[in-house]
Amino acid sequence: MNIIITEDYDELSEKASEIIIEHVRNKPDAVLGLATGSTPLGLYKRLVEDHKENGTSYKQIRAVNLDEYKGLTKDHPQSYAWFMRKNLFDRIDIDLNNTYIENGTAKDEKSECERYDSILEQFPRDIQLLGLGSNGHIAFNEPNTPFDSTTHVVTLADSTVKDNARLFSDISEVPRKAYTMGLKSIMQAKKILLLASGLNKADAVAKLMYGKPTEELPASIISEHKDCTVILDEKAASKL
Ligand code: F6R
Repeated sequence: MNIIITEDYDELSEKASEIIIEHVRNKPDAVLGLATGSTPLGLYKRLVEDHKENGTSYKQIRAVNLDEYKGLTKDHPQSYAWFMRKNLFDRIDIDLNNTYIENGTAKDEKSECERYDSILEQFPRDIQLLGLGSNGHIAFNEPNTPFDSTTHVVTLADSTVKDNARLFSDISEVPRKAYTMGLKSIMQAKKILLLASGLNKADAVAKLMYGKPTEELPASIISEHKDCTVILDEKAASKL
């Protein structure tokens, strides 16, 4: 595991953007596995700036997202589909037809999971971006998710609902269920890039760095990946 400790969130975002931009320039038809949440916002801002200033193009790029709340339509302001459009896709030249995310309002859960797994098979990811939950989740794979999981529907942990409530007007509005890419599927990406920022991630980061891979800490699976980079800011790295 390649670990980069940065001074602060800005430097973390800068380093992460350098890695993604290099990928896109070297392989203009790369498949990017993308994440939502607060952590990648600085990275996405830099991708947009670089696209405008330096013309890095996403015309042939495909983007496959990790997860989506169950029950939210793709134009719901709190859906992850909407988040991606607002923070990245509508601000670069990517073709929206080349962007993929689970359908939160699919009628049948099983067939939606199968549909998404076949997309993951069709478009192997060159790089998978990950954030880290304060309880050690990656995507919405909560503690004790089997390491061999593929796309599935999860009931969100109470701590995740609380963490994400800041983005809703009231905690009662946070969906309790979500579709998520599974841990096995995450590991199939050629490269993993995990970002963690802030004191509330420090415990999970320390467990990830010092412990053995265990399903109790879903993120620990990435230590078994042969090409994995973790970028931390000083606060997230404060318990190392
Ligand atoms: C989002 C996702 C989640 C977040 C994690 C951290 O697509 O998969 O695992 O990466 O909950 O969220 P933030 O970045 O908001 O702290």
